[in-house]
Amino acid sequence: MRIIGTGSARPSKVVTNSMLENFLDTSDEWIVTRTGIHERRVISSENLEDLAATAARNAMENAGITSEDVDFIICSNVVNEYVTPGLGCVIQGMIGATCPTMDINCACTGFIYALDVAEAYLATKKDMRNILIVCAEEPARMMNWHDRSSCILFGDAAGAVVVTKGDDLKAIRVSTHCKVEALYQKRKLQPTPFITKEEVDTEGVVMNGQDVFKLAVSSSIKDIDKVLTMAGMTADEIDLYVLHQANVRIIESIRHFVNQDKSKFPFNLDRYGNTSSASIPALLDDLNRGNQLKTGEMLLLSAFGAGFTTGACILRWSM
Ligand code: ACO
Repeated sequence: MRIIGTGSARPSKVVTNSMLENFLDTSDEWIVTRTGIHERRVISSENLEDLAATAARNAMENAGITSEDVDFIICSNVVNEYVTPGLGCVIQGMIGATCPTMDINCACTGFIYALDVAEAYLATKKDMRNILIVCAEEPARMMNWHDRSSCILFGDAAGAVVVTKGDDLKAIRVSTHCKVEALYQKRKLQPTPFITKEEVDTEGVVMNGQDVFKLAVSSSIKDIDKVLTMAGMTADEIDLYVLHQANVRIIESIRHFVNQDKSKFPFNLDRYGNTSSASIPALLDDLNRGNQLKTGEMLLLSAFGAGFTTGACILRWSM
């Protein structure tokens, strides 16, 4: 597998920490110190599918292909306004593709899971040329905006890549360790005349921040160690660690474990917050368009999220 194009799109509405002070008992100082986030983008008038289609078009343009060249679309998404069909189907129509589409919901780890699926498809399906991966997320719509410990963390975004056959993926590992109580949301479904059970609507995400913090650091460290071993590489041989953008303190804890320089850990969560599975592909796009990725560099990607799902991979950059 090889990445040949990247794209991203973000909502126009910038929500700063001081704007949150207007309706939450919080402060810019608390949020910056505990998370590293200064502002985030939140959907106001946009539809998530518009952001997804823009990110997809940017990635195709960057790859020098058109929608006719796309043979499969993998869409990573947790929630959007459509319960059905899958968001991938909506995106397919908007970009004028005709290939099959598949949605996955692996929370913030979705991009790594999508890369794993893409690698398997490219390896086993002879006619498969290009796969479009679109990660489109609106976690801000899942939050209880009266809960200061969770709503301050998230922002909305879409990130996309085009992958084709190649030899750039050196190692990949995905895992799930069932820990629903650490981070979940339940909603009531439509009533029927036959329902007799009590159903719960949590009215937003329920998160144990400290448990998630510990799970994130411990699982990412384990994944990084495993993929380095799988690839026969050392931490020093990785040029950039592109980590899920959840909290600057999580990134720092992981950085201390691998004992690498700060400059190897690019981040943009100060401006965008945690955008779930869109965070890594959108950061890759920022780096790509900012000419911060050099051909031949080795990237280690690591993500973690609700489930608890985790995943990491080592990827040679060859664009
Ligand atoms: N502003 C001011 N005070 C706050 C806020 C806020 N926004 N949020 C919580 N507090 C208060 C708490 O009420 C608590 O007050 P108390 O001591 O009087 O009880 C105090 O701050 C400390 O709270 P903690 O929860 O101990 O703060 P902590 O240092 O753990 O930081 C945080 C909380 C930022 C949520 C941290 O635990 C974290 O980042 N966890 C990981 C969360 C995460 O990344 N989730 C998503 C990852 S997975 C995915 O991406 C889906």
